[in-house]
Amino acid sequence: MNNLIHKIKNRDELTKEELSHLLALDDFSEIFRLADDIRYENFGNYVDIRAILEFSNYCKRKCKYCGLNSTNKNVKRYRMSVDEILETVKTAYDAGYKTIVLQSGEDNYYTAKMIGDIVRQIKKHTSMVVTVSSGELSYEDYKYIKLCGADRYLLKHETSDEKIYSYLHSCGTLKNRLNALKNIKSLGYYTGSGFMIGLPFQTLDTIANDILTLASIPCDMAGIGPFISHSDTPLRNLQNGSTELTKRAVALTRIMLPKAHLPATTALGVIDSKEKDNIFSCGANVIMRKVTPQKYEQYYSIYPSNIKVSDIYKERKILEQQIKNLGRIPV
Ligand code: 5AD
Repeated sequence: MNNLIHKIKNRDELTKEELSHLLALDDFSEIFRLADDIRYENFGNYVDIRAILEFSNYCKRKCKYCGLNSTNKNVKRYRMSVDEILETVKTAYDAGYKTIVLQSGEDNYYTAKMIGDIVRQIKKHTSMVVTVSSGELSYEDYKYIKLCGADRYLLKHETSDEKIYSYLHSCGTLKNRLNALKNIKSLGYYTGSGFMIGLPFQTLDTIANDILTLASIPCDMAGIGPFISHSDTPLRNLQNGSTELTKRAVALTRIMLPKAHLPATTALGVIDSKEKDNIFSCGANVIMRKVTPQKYEQYYSIYPSNIKVSDIYKERKILEQQIKNLGRIPV
């Protein structure tokens, strides 16, 4: 153990076996502290706030864990018009957000041309950093959207285990997923990936390998969240993922990728928690807030959530205060 602590302090890379061993520790507190130190060295006490706009919940994929999978007939589908999207982004900008994440299911209705035009308009009228998160697209489409001004792209690999990946996704392969990530990275996007904790058949070795996968891209951002069971999906009877294990995975990712932006994922609704050891003490430095209009937000039900959007301005202020209460500085 002392040997591993020494390696971490030395900033040496950890192997899969070492990561797996650390994930299983009885007492992880020293590793949390080291991850927190590394976060502080790279980001100080700043917490980046991002707005996320979920502009369509149509999805052609059949991911077994996701409430938006195309076989779920219980969800009302919506698409926001280009004008609605631009208007919402403008409101978020006026409320103080400097980064917008445009997210949707894999919805062919929005062509690369449309997404590119939306990005262009945002770039023309605001100084926002624009992140797109609309799933797997062709190299040409990623390239076009990048040329239109998109700065970042988020595409989680979800799991790095080929068998688990194909069990969960009858609609795609791990190979294509990783290839898409490589394309995104090669085009110069600030690249984000991530994975879930608590998937069927997942072991600590799988998680260790997930962390190494992030490092292999290498990712500039990584979202790691617990699986949350959704009653309208084939995984309805599976338990939710462990929040402790999620925090451990975030901490080890911070150690392996010292400069990466690591959000406290929405799935880990930590910020309200009274817990002292919240996710921001484990290496995370980013928080995302939904700005999806209220009339649509309830239908973007990837997993059950009680997070509601009412007033973008008020919520931004509340979030800033919550971050300050944790002794951090919102930016
Ligand atoms: N529980 C937790 N996270 C989920 N996601 C999708 N479905 C679930 C679920 N049931 C995550 C995936 C996806 C992101 C948008 O939401 O990681 O990439």
